[in-house]
This record gives sequence, structure tokens and C-alpha cells, in this order.
Amino acid sequence: MKPFGNSGTNGTVAASNQGCLLIKYMLHKCYQLLGDKSKESVTVFILVSLYLEGTQMTDTVQNPFTVDYVDGVVILLDQAALPAKEEHIHCTNWQRVAKAIADLEVRGAPAIGVAAAFGMALAAETSTAVSGEDLLAELAEVGEALNATRPTAVNLAWALEVVLREAHQAPRERSSVVDAVVSCARRLHAEDLATCKAIGDNGAELLAGASNVITHCNAGALATVGYGTALGVIRSAQKTNPGLHVWVDETRPVLQGGRLTAFELGRDGIDCTVIVDGAAASVLRASDVGAAVVGADRIAANGDVANKIGTYGLAIAARHHGVPFYVAAPLSTIDPNTLSGQEIEIEQRPAAEVAQYRGAAITPESAQVYNPAFDVTPAELVDGIITEVGILRAPYDASIAAAFGN
Ligand code: MRU
Repeated sequence: MKPFGNSGTNGTVAASNQGCLLIKYMLHKCYQLLGDKSKESVTVFILVSLYLEGTQMTDTVQNPFTVDYVDGVVILLDQAALPAKEEHIHCTNWQRVAKAIADLEVRGAPAIGVAAAFGMALAAETSTAVSGEDLLAELAEVGEALNATRPTAVNLAWALEVVLREAHQAPRERSSVVDAVVSCARRLHAEDLATCKAIGDNGAELLAGASNVITHCNAGALATVGYGTALGVIRSAQKTNPGLHVWVDETRPVLQGGRLTAFELGRDGIDCTVIVDGAAASVLRASDVGAAVVGADRIAANGDVANKIGTYGLAIAARHHGVPFYVAAPLSTIDPNTLSGQEIEIEQRPAAEVAQYRGAAITPESAQVYNPAFDVTPAELVDGIITEVGILRAPYDASIAAAFGN
């Protein structure tokens, strides 16, 4: 269904974009593996790899990759520049990774967790520490600095904790600590993609008969290693419900919906329409919306959900109009140590994000600005939490505890 005559997406363009992306990705992997060997070997490698990988590769590389660690360099797709420019940032020290997280060049809870883990790998590999003990002490400091970049998304603290724990479990020689950190970061990277696919497939049934779904911010491939959480559910649902149309909240002030969600859905040829955040309530009233599906930055033990500012308003509007409101997130976003949403620290962002547009003032200098990056949606407004182990339902204190095996 194309409600209100949206512009839609040209499937052929999307398909050819996807092909170009695949080739770009293969080239990237070839240079990584073959260095500056001849173009002929690169071409042969691409053809052989495409033949061997077949559809599996297409599935994994349906969007530009968000984060990777190649030859001691953390490579990040610059999300601050999207959709105008598609460029990658090459971080050769962990401080640059920290800056990228703080400046939203890489963003989205799972993606910043993996980026920080790679930041730790980079710090370990470039450290001048001679002993394993000294390296562990240095990594603890790096972890603290990376963790301080964004306080709300718990995946950041979670990933750093996992990396540091595995570093401490390694034999105390420097090389063993480095190996443990690098392999842990690589594992978290691989697991994130598999987790998102499981979330997507677990949630797909909720959109089986829907004509429309609404989402807020970007909880997609760009916010994860690939596939996405909320957008993962939409991607999986599309396989059996190809007519599904997505209403995309623009998501003031940084426009993760208008810039990023619309970008990656367009790349996949998924029909979507961007609306200003203030239009969501009237769309829920006037259009046949089967569900709202959003991501999360931290979910408390009682099911309260911190997510991008505006999510709470969307949840209230959804409940008012009888539209089910779902949160899609990995278990790593659930923080059993945070008992309720009241305990979640909400990140405050710079006033300029609200007061300026592309560097030009859009509010008078005298105006005060309040710019919380996230809000908390109470558990009673959440109809289900879609995770890699299944859909959790209220009462969430019990279903969350059970998901953690308690
Ligand atoms: O400030 P951002 O862009 O990092 O906020 C992102 C969100 O709020 C996402 O919905 C959340 O991190 C989930 S991403 C799978």
C-alpha cells in the first residue's frame, strides 16, 4: 500500500545500487587480503568469491558496512555525512574512535558497542606496554574513556566489559592479552549480525498482515553491524509481506530517520515515507498502521525502555490509537542492573544540534535549548520486546529474568 501517494523507490535502481555495493565490498575485502597485488588477481578473487559466497554474501552486504577492523585500522561509515556523502573514516588510534562515537559518526547502541570493542583492539595492538599487566592497566583506562563518550546506550558499557573480562582471562603475556582483545572484538562484530537476523526473524510474524508500520530514529543496519533491530524486523517481514510500507519519523534534531532510515530502506528497495515527528499521531489516526517498531538504547529490568527522544510520544500516540508498540533489541541492550527507567542516565547533547541547521542559527541566540538525546517509555506502553531469544511480554520483570535464565 502507498498511503498518501508517497514517492516510493525504484526497484531497479535499488537492485543496481545493491550490486555496486556488493562489488565495492568485495574490492575492499580483496585489498585487505591481497594488499597491492595485481588488478588481475583482484578480479579473479572477486569472481571466485562471488561464485563461492553466492546469495549468502548478498544477504550480508545489503547495506554499506557500518564498522570493521582491517589491518589495525577501525573503519567506520561516516553517518554524520549521510546521505549526502558516503565516506568511511579510518581510525588509526582509539582516540579517533572515541571522537567518532561522541560526534555520532558511528551511532546506534549495538554499533557503538562494536566500534568501542574495535577501539580496544586498536589500543591493545598499538600500545607500547611491555608486560601483560601494564597493558591491562592501560586498557582499563582506554575503556573508561570510551565508555564516557555516550552514557545511555548500555551496549557500549556491555561490550567494553566483555572485552576487558576476556583480556583478564588471558595468560599474562602481552601478546596473549592483545590476541584475546582482538579476537573478542571480532567475535562481538560477528555475533551482532547473527543476533540482528534472529531478532528480525522472531519479530516478522508481528507484521505479517500489516500494510504499514511506523518507526522512529534509525535502528537499522547502520545502527548495528548489519540488518538492524527494528529495521531487521521490517526486513524479515518484507520477505513474506513485500507490500509493507514504512512510515519513517524524521527524528529531530539529528534526523536519524530522515537521513539514515530512509537511506538504508531506499537501498533495499523498501517502500517508505518520511514524516516530521509531529505528524506521527495524525498518521496513526488516518492511516492503517499495523504496528510501531523501534529500537532501544537501554531496557531496564522492569521493561522500561530508553530510546531516541520522541519514542515516548510515539508510544503514547500508538496506545491512544490502538496500534501495538514493539521494541526490538538484543539481550545486550537489556540491563538487569538497572531496575527501572528512572535509574537510566539520559545523555544531554550540545544545544547547537537544536539551535542550528548546517551551521546556520535557526533559533534566536537568546533562546535556551534543552536537548536530551533519549526518553524513557514506561513498560506499560510496550506490547512486546523482540529479542534474539523470542518476543518477551509483560510482566517484563518475569520475562526478562527468564530470558537471562533466572
Ligand atoms: O543517538 P543515536 O543515533 O545513537 O540513537 C540511536 C537510537 O536511539 C536507536 O534507536 C537505538 O540505539 C537502537 S539501534 C539498534
